[in-house]
Amino acid sequence: MKKQKIKINDFKPEHLDQVKVILSENFKYPWSDNHILSSNSFSVKKVIFLDRKIIGFFSGEIILSEGSITMIAVRKKYQNRGIGKYILDWFVNLSKEKGVKNIWLEVSSKNKKAIRFYENYGFIIEDIRPSYYRDGSDALIMRFPVYP
Ligand SMILES: CC(C)(COP(=O)(O)OP(=O)(O)OC[C@H]1O[C@@H](n2cnc3c(N)ncnc32)[C@H](O)[C@@H]1OP(=O)(O)O)[C@@H](O)C(=O)NCCC(=O)NCCS
Repeated sequence: MKKQKIKINDFKPEHLDQVKVILSENFKYPWSDNHILSSNSFSVKKVIFLDRKIIGFFSGEIILSEGSITMIAVRKKYQNRGIGKYILDWFVNLSKEKGVKNIWLEVSSKNKKAIRFYENYGFIIEDIRPSYYRDGSDALIMRFPVYP
């Protein structure tokens, strides 16, 4: 994977249909249109382009010293090529610039691939919320110390 071909751009409403494809191929209960489109002054919403194709979606927030990731998803056929790590590296760098101390996220205990991906990156499981998701699975609360 040639990293120079990857671009991380601001999410715009015109990207909605392509983002919906990414989410619906990865999740049984994908985000609604409103959820994808909603934003506030803390939101960081991005699409990841490979050449001219959108192959990933990122959603997060930065509020003072705390960052969070609410969504990171890569088109299935582009997974396992380092794109997820590329997106995390980008968000960690942005967080450093903004003085963020911790990045938080929630992930289903059933999502073994994502848990391994985050753990390999350096996220730590801090807490568990039992039966948090619609399918009854627990939520793992994970934290990445930006400045360990
Ligand atoms: C989780 C997710 C974002 C990871 O994205 P990804 O692009 O597949 O991630 P990466 O390629 O960077 O890393 C995944 C694996 O590929 C491996 N990998 C990285 N670069 C690689 C390369 N150049 N060649 C081969 N394998 C590579 C990594 O070692 C990693 O393996 P591991 O998980 O056993 O450590 C992606 O799987 C996804 O979209 N999942 C569905 C949505 C989801 O569950 N999101 C999380 C919600 S909280």
